[in-house]
Amino acid sequence: MSFRSVFIAIVIAFALILSGYLINRSRPTYETDYAKATFIRATGQCADCHRQRHYSVVHEYEMSVHAQKGVSCLDCHQPMDAQEKLVHHGFVISKHLTASNCRNCHDREYRQFLQSRHAAASWAAVFGESGLSKEQVDFAEQFHPGSCKRPANPLVKLEGQEAITSGCIKCHSVGKPNSDGSIGTCTSCHTRHVASVAVARLPTTCGQCHMGPDHSQLEIYHESKHGVIFAAQKDLLNLSKDPVQLTSKDMFVPTCATCHMSGLNGLKSSHDTSERLSYKLADPISSKRPNYTLAQSNMKEVCSQCHANSLVDRIYLEAEKTVQSVNEKVKESLDIMDGLHRDKILGTAPLSQPIDFKYFDLWHYYGRTAKHGAFMGGQDFAHWHGTYPLLKLGVELKTEADKLRKEHDAPKKQ
Ligand code: HEC
Ligand code: HEC
Ligand code: HEC
Ligand code: HEC
Ligand code: HEC
Ligand code: HEC
Ligand code: HEC
Ligand code: HEC
Repeated sequence: MSFRSVFIAIVIAFALILSGYLINRSRPTYETDYAKATFIRATGQCADCHRQRHYSVVHEYEMSVHAQKGVSCLDCHQPMDAQEKLVHHGFVISKHLTASNCRNCHDREYRQFLQSRHAAASWAAVFGESGLSKEQVDFAEQFHPGSCKRPANPLVKLEGQEAITSGCIKCHSVGKPNSDGSIGTCTSCHTRHVASVAVARLPTTCGQCHMGPDHSQLEIYHESKHGVIFAAQKDLLNLSKDPVQLTSKDMFVPTCATCHMSGLNGLKSSHDTSERLSYKLADPISSKRPNYTLAQSNMKEVCSQCHANSLVDRIYLEAEKTVQSVNEKVKESLDIMDGLHRDKILGTAPLSQPIDFKYFDLWHYYGRTAKHGAFMGGQDFAHWHGTYPLLKLGVELKTEADKLRKEHDAPKKQ
């Protein structure tokens, strides 16, 4: 072989290596940046096939931090202990994914979540203890006494299974007991495939469930100054900032997550949404929580990352007065209802008389809304959707109760 042909062969070989390197470098990073050979196999094949049929799933995944960090399709879809297996185009995948699949890598978040009312308490609010193991009930009761040891909600029987399946469960399954022994789902807030903090920080994400007349948090937020500024400046916020480094320079306008979960400017972040709550606002008559002082200072600490203490203290003072005033109004109606029950003018069957609904709406819609509005900057909710209908229903309830009592006391006609 002549020197010339050896030289040409070397040049061609070098050019091939170089072009191979350049082509590889220009491929999207999610296909090249991992150490594990199994990842290339799993993601490559899952993604190739599914890109054809379910482009959206693969596209969402490709945008995720998981894809950047080399977490593969199979890392999530592999069966965990006690999960039903499915043989699927040469792979073994889990028939149904739960929080257990996420827990595999995010145990800290899972454990915080488990202590929150988004876990077992959410399920028990609808179904009571049924479906939860004794250990799960005991665990949740340590943190939220009375949250799980209770009967199923009377509406379950009254409305029927269809309404429960398409209604209550869709929201309350955030804490569903799964057949693999885990609780709940992480994808209610993170979604399945983009699994991001940016989505979880959007008010509309929480608003999937936290909306409507009985918990109008999303509507209140939209009305509040925070919601207005968020709408105007959303694109300027750094919504995908790593939670460990999140500062008020990234989130200078708060969303639900900022106040209830995030660790702004080095504060402790948590998946336990109760840690910063000082009242039980969802109850008919709201009492202080056992950790009132600590919880309130936790939340005020968040406010004070952006506000002067004087503003924060004023809002709390006003809101706590609203809680007392709503409690008094609800108590008046509760006393009337208790009287009707005591004197056997009303039977024991729940929600069977028009007056039962009046009382239920009075605290469950309007009482709650007034309290939530006062704490979260929703003046119209504190008043026109809150205290005003509370007053009106109170008068109607009293009139109806007097009428029922008269009818009951009147001598029976022969
Ligand atoms: C050879 C093509 C192919 C490969 C490879 C493949 N899938 Fe699928 N997958 C499908 C088809 C087709 C369906 C059914 C879609 C339907 O029912 O409309 C499906 C369904 C699914 C479902 C839904 C199952 C259900 O019934 O709820 C999941 C989850 C899934 N695939 C995940 C994966 C994962 C993870 C991998 C890689 C480990 C993978 N797939 C590999 C073709 C493939
Ligand atoms: C962060 C974890 C995670 C990763 C990574 C992941 N998935 Fe999923 N995927 C889920 C979850 C959770 C569900 C819901 C499954 C359920 O309810 O049983 C799901 C559902 C699906 C479904 C059913 C979708 C539907 O709407 O019917 C398909 C198909 C699927 N995944 C394919 C893939 C493919 C392909 C990849 C990789 C490109 C992938 N997944 C990566 C968590 C993940
Ligand atoms: C195989 C391990 C693994 C599994 C399984 C897994 N994750 Fe992750 N997840 C990671 C890694 C690694 C990161 C990057 C975190 C880091 O760099 O510190 C991450 C990051 C995240 C983030 C932060 C994303 C962001 O925008 O910053 C969220 C949210 C998340 N995961 C949710 C989930 C959910 C929900 C599931 C289950 C459906 C899940 N993960 C399953 C390993 C995993
Ligand atoms: C749109 C989503 C959604 C639907 C549908 C829904 N809930 Fe709720 N529920 C919530 C949210 C969010 C809260 C938290 C309210 C708060 O703290 O302000 C809640 C709170 C509750 C509470 C009070 C908290 C507790 O643990 O005692 C009960 C009880 C309850 N729901 C039962 C039900 C029942 C029963 C149904 C169906 C008949 C139902 N919910 C339908 C979202 C929903
Ligand atoms: C109620 C909504 C909600 C649920 C349910 C939820 N998350 Fe999150 N998660 C968030 C929010 C909001 C953040 C961002 C917090 C912040 O701003 O610092 C977050 C952040 C994360 C992160 C990033 C690191 C961290 O700890 O802040 C991971 C990982 C994560 N979640 C995993 C999970 C897992 C696993 C589950 C299920 C056990 C889960 N999440 C359930 C709302 C939720
Ligand atoms: C899938 C539905 C769903 C989503 C999404 C959701 N929640 Fe909830 N949330 C609930 C339910 C149901 C309850 C009531 C649990 C109970 O007390 O029974 C609740 C309760 C709460 C509570 C009251 C806890 C307590 O101790 O009383 C807070 C605060 C809260 N959620 C904040 C959030 C935030 C912030 C987000 C978004 C990052 C969010 N939630 C997303 C369903 C949801
Ligand atoms: C500026 C901070 C802030 C924002 C933003 C915010 N909240 Fe709140 N939230 C509060 C405060 C303060 C309370 C009352 C705390 C207490 O009881 O001490 C509260 C109470 C609640 C409760 C009542 C829990 C109970 O006792 O029943 C829920 C549920 C809730 N918020 C959910 C949300 C949701 C969902 C969003 C977004 C749509 C949101 N919050 C936005 C500060 C905020
Ligand atoms: C991440 C920053 C941030 C956090 C946390 C925050 N806020 Fe704000 N808040 C703002 C911004 C920005 C405005 C608009 C300020 C302006 O007009 O200059 C605002 C406005 C307000 C206003 C309206 C002031 C007015 O008169 O126009 C009130 C009231 C308020 N916040 C209360 C609170 C309370 C109470 C908390 C805690 C529960 C809180 N905020 C948490 C950023 C924040």
